[in-house]
Amino acid sequence: MASPEPFVPALRFHALTRAYDRVLALSLDEERHKRALVEQASLAPGMDVLDLGCGTGTLTLALKRHQPAARVTGLDLDPEALGIARRKAEDAGAELTFVQGSATEPPLVAGSFDRVLTSLMLHHLVREQKQRCLRAAWALLRPGGELHILDWGRAQDPLMALAFLPVRVLDGLAPTRDNARGNLPELLREAGFADVAVTRSARTVFGSLAFLRGTRPAS
Ligand SMILES: C[S@@+](CC[C@H](N)C(=O)[O-])C[C@H]1O[C@@H](n2cnc3c(N)ncnc32)[C@H](O)[C@@H]1O
Repeated sequence: MASPEPFVPALRFHALTRAYDRVLALSLDEERHKRALVEQASLAPGMDVLDLGCGTGTLTLALKRHQPAARVTGLDLDPEALGIARRKAEDAGAELTFVQGSATEPPLVAGSFDRVLTSLMLHHLVREQKQRCLRAAWALLRPGGELHILDWGRAQDPLMALAFLPVRVLDGLAPTRDNARGNLPELLREAGFADVAVTRSARTVFGSLAFLRGTRPAS
């Protein structure tokens, strides 16, 4: 049997996964940023929507609440984070599907999603994994489907670069490098996405967040 793919957990150490939701809510104005990402995705009834690297399912749940008539799936490698996500969905009475698997090789049907979203996951992947993940996201989308990303981006100024350092040390210099250099748009284009844009950025205590979008061309 193949050994499971190694991955960087939500807060770098497995023992901290239980504290992830509290840490994020207290430090990042999480609700506001995730709401902005959900709104950016322009969900419509009947859409199939995927949250790649869903972790504890906060965005997955927000997507379903925003558009109850969409079918929403969350995928993550971490069984503990998925356990928390499933409990949150159950408590909220939300019908969500959670799948354990890698964002670089998702065990999902190609061309079966209208929207793929990913929040704070890409900076856990080194360049080669980011490239595989973005190609996989492209393949999972139907023609005309859209990818929407919220993740760390290039700092607007030295203060934001300094603020990002603790995250870089915690999650690793290699996986965070392309984020810090502002390379995500280029990686999206390389993966085949069109209309790639950084739609907005936000200053936080941990550095600059970037919102991006890209489209799988209709033909
Ligand atoms: C910082 S958390 C973000 C979780 C969630 N998207 C959010 O915004 O709160 C990063 C998540 O990415 C997941 N992850 C890391 N590498 C992964 C991979 N190769 N495939 C799937 N999930 C991965 C981790 O397990 C973790 O749950």
